[in-house]
Amino acid sequence: MLIRILISISDAQLHRQIRRLLQQSDAVLVDIPLASDPLTQATANTCDLMVMQIDTLDEKMHQLALEMAELPDNPWLILITDSEDPFERTEFLASGGLAVLPMAVGAEQIVAVLEEMIDKRKTFISSTINHRNLLNEPRLNDFYFASPSMREFLRFAFKIAASEANLLLLGETGVGKEHLARAIHRSGSRATAPFVPVNCGSLSENLLESDLFGHEKGSFTGANHARRGAFELAHKGTIFLDEIADLPYQLQVRLLRAIQDKEIQRVGAERAIPVDVRIMAATNRDLRHEVDSNRFRQDLYYRLNVISLTVPPLRERREDIPALVSRFVEFYRSSMRAEIIGIRDEALRALVQYDWPGNVRELANIIERSMLICEDDEIDLCDFPDEIRTLAKTYDSEEISSNPEAPALADDTVDVCELLWKDARRIGLDKLERTYFTRLLETTRGRIREAARRAGVDPRSINDKMRRYNLHKEDFKHRNQPPNSDA
Ligand SMILES: Nc1ncnc2c1ncn2[C@@H]1O[C@H](COP(=O)(O)OP(=O)(O)OP(=O)(O)O)[C@@H](O)[C@H]1O
Ligand SMILES: [Mg+2]
Repeated sequence: MLIRILISISDAQLHRQIRRLLQQSDAVLVDIPLASDPLTQATANTCDLMVMQIDTLDEKMHQLALEMAELPDNPWLILITDSEDPFERTEFLASGGLAVLPMAVGAEQIVAVLEEMIDKRKTFISSTINHRNLLNEPRLNDFYFASPSMREFLRFAFKIAASEANLLLLGETGVGKEHLARAIHRSGSRATAPFVPVNCGSLSENLLESDLFGHEKGSFTGANHARRGAFELAHKGTIFLDEIADLPYQLQVRLLRAIQDKEIQRVGAERAIPVDVRIMAATNRDLRHEVDSNRFRQDLYYRLNVISLTVPPLRERREDIPALVSRFVEFYRSSMRAEIIGIRDEALRALVQYDWPGNVRELANIIERSMLICEDDEIDLCDFPDEIRTLAKTYDSEEISSNPEAPALADDTVDVCELLWKDARRIGLDKLERTYFTRLLETTRGRIREAARRAGVDPRSINDKMRRYNLHKEDFKHRNQPPNSDA
């Protein structure tokens, strides 16, 4: 994150010292003319901090603090002054001013405070860019998988997390390219700096240019304020260029220059700003083919494609589906405050069979939707759309647990106290269900409608339970019959 500081300091020695001492920080210092209007300057430049030396702290400064708080970037105002009126100082702070530093403390002290403020500002901006969200901010260790192919894939991903090289992520829609990019970023040396995603396909060329590089006030009609772009925001961190194949040709040229020169120029700016970003780009198109068709610059392709990773589609790693399902059920359970504890085996089998053209995103959507519909405590086939439900008819008899690490459901040798509560609960429920429905079918002699009536459930549920626990109607017909009965 590059922090921009506007300074207006009349004391030449203090000015020199501040400039020298702040040279090492991740800050761009911009001098504003002493006689100029500070609010106009803040609006024109976009800044994080404004540091002003003033003679008297008065009403004008309270007003300035209030107005700065209204600007889109909400810059922080710091005053350096000999003025000592405690009433004015309190008013200034109450109006939203950040600090008043006495000249007498000297340049080094003042710079120490400014450095502290720069760090606070970075945290403030990061928190507004990165909404923390369990699914949105993964680490490589959080990846849920069971397939050997993903294990191999992630081993490689760990290696490249430590590298600084640009990365190209390929793979079908929804396979998790952005998810992986975030995880690699969060697991590497830039983890504490921002991850800034930009979708290269969704905006007009002008908006995209400003999104990437920022713009100065007045640089085009409607540019009422200066604005920083993704490169400035991602300084010391990672910029994620999604749908890179859609980047217009002119912007490909600008991007290439930014990567080569490690500096960018805002739209309408005269000066370049040095930036240090790692670039990760993603596409579900064949970028090589775009290069061959002259739609994508070859030189940019090589710059981006220092390392490339192709995330396999979900249908080629079906073993990952149960683990991902558990992950999504857990995630949506807490966000929906739902009571659902898992998924029935038949339902899970159907998910494993399905081909997932929309990959992991489609799977997450289906789980969320089914949890909204589900009236039971486990997701069932009837909670799925038709195209998945029909697959249940064709499933093979292979057993697949919703959690590959979970113990077998009917395993009597397991000490429940050594399990997670969710697994223990599942085992307990399973046993109770098996006993309940076996007894119920015994007393109703396998008559399903009667069993459903007594249990207060739908006959379909009785059928499901019978399938689940391998109970057969015929086995109950003659049970509990009085001896010599011919019924
Ligand atoms: N291994 C995983 N574990 C948990 N969630 C995942 C995993 N992979 C993907 N997801 C989730 O699936 C959804 C789709 O992933 P993502 O947006 O990264 O896909 P994408 O490949 O960038 O798709 P597109 O090409 O359409 O942009 C996201 O909500 C993401 O969090
Ligand atoms: Mg994406």
